[in-house]
Amino acid sequence: MAHDPSSTSERPSRDGRAGARSRQLFAAAQRRIPGGVNSPVRAFASVGGEPPFIKSARGAFLTTEDGATLIDYVGSWGPAILGHAHPEVVEAVTRAAQNGLSFGACTAAEVEYAERLCAVVPALRGGMVRLVSSGTEATMSALRLARGFTGRPKIIKAEGGYHGHADMLLVAAGSGAATLGIPGSAGVTAAAVADTLTVPFNSAEAVARAFEAHPGQIAAVIIEPIAGNMGCVPPRPGYLAALRELCSAAGALLILDEVMTGFRVALGGAHGRYGVTPDLVCLGKIVGGGMPVGAYGGREEVMRAIAPLGPVYQAGTLSGNPLGVAAGLTTLAILERSDPYPALERQSAALVDGLARLAARHGVALSANRVGAMWTGFFRGGEVWDYSDAKGSDTALFGRFHREMLARGVYLAPSQFEAAFLSIDHDDAVIAQTLAAADEAFAALAAAGEG
Ligand SMILES: Cc1ncc(COP(=O)(O)O)c(C=O)c1O
Repeated sequence: MAHDPSSTSERPSRDGRAGARSRQLFAAAQRRIPGGVNSPVRAFASVGGEPPFIKSARGAFLTTEDGATLIDYVGSWGPAILGHAHPEVVEAVTRAAQNGLSFGACTAAEVEYAERLCAVVPALRGGMVRLVSSGTEATMSALRLARGFTGRPKIIKAEGGYHGHADMLLVAAGSGAATLGIPGSAGVTAAAVADTLTVPFNSAEAVARAFEAHPGQIAAVIIEPIAGNMGCVPPRPGYLAALRELCSAAGALLILDEVMTGFRVALGGAHGRYGVTPDLVCLGKIVGGGMPVGAYGGREEVMRAIAPLGPVYQAGTLSGNPLGVAAGLTTLAILERSDPYPALERQSAALVDGLARLAARHGVALSANRVGAMWTGFFRGGEVWDYSDAKGSDTALFGRFHREMLARGVYLAPSQFEAAFLSIDHDDAVIAQTLAAADEAFAALAAAGEG
């Protein structure tokens, strides 16, 4: 009989729950890698079950080691705006690799990338940018720079804001720290966080009070312009502009951490979208097109304080490495050329509005937040404007929903306190398949009396 790949038994499964192969790999991983993972949220600790291992990815889909094909809303935690393995990006990286993986020396491509970034990102126009290898490095370096430039010690961050895992930033942190219920981190000394002040997200009044309480002491306010690491929480109208004014009035720097939102919610990031220009911007994720790249930059006067021009030291063996630059530069070129943002907006709205409608139909309380192609459905009624609101979500119910969706071929971030992302490959068929899965998943929650 002729081979028939469309026969039911050979169609890729949509059940993404860890099968025998993933479970075997996870057992091996746990023996040699702490928790079996190289970053904590991947462990599925808050949603139960074991993580499916990923073998490959293309477009909007992941393929697991168990042979399941899943619709991906994690997108490598943000970078995959062009979908996975975009042919042009893969080709650019391959070409770069053939010329050598890393030189630790100056290259033409890094100059081209810096020039493109300074043309496209409003906060970098007329300014300067430094490439690093992660979002953590970008925020950590920007804060050192802010302290060095202003000569002041203190910084302000939002509760539930996550800016990477530098010591001074692991206070009331979002993302994995929120997921695991870890308020700070062991190993961080009191001295390291003594100059970190925390305020509720979306409260300019709290920032004003902090400035009043510490006159001449605050170097910078660092904020995600759209919070993503307590789940997606948009800024209230006027919030970012108020921060801008407060910082300018106090002689402090406004640092917008656009590691997640940069090139995600608009080509010019959230600050382009909302028209508020920070002194420094931090980039990551999409800026590396799937490779480990971060960047920070802004006003020339401030950036000139960095070594070798100035006294603030920051360095990196692999900074500006050719593969990362090739992936980032090509991704940016495609985003500029194709302007996918109106389509991303439409697809995301169709998905998130659809989810909200289905939840309501099944009597499940869901508060959906979305900006462009990033969103979170919080399992609670009412609105979510800060970390305290986000924490009011029913995380057990989220966990149940996560498992139901995974069993139906939809891969969501394994935590209530994360944003979900669409790519240009999340087309109508993908959205329809997701909503069909969600219909059944909400029905299962309602049937279990958990709505
Ligand atoms: C807003 C924000 N800043 C910084 C970081 C840290 O970036 P990385 O994980 O590349 O170190 C993240 C990571 O999720 C982030 O979302």
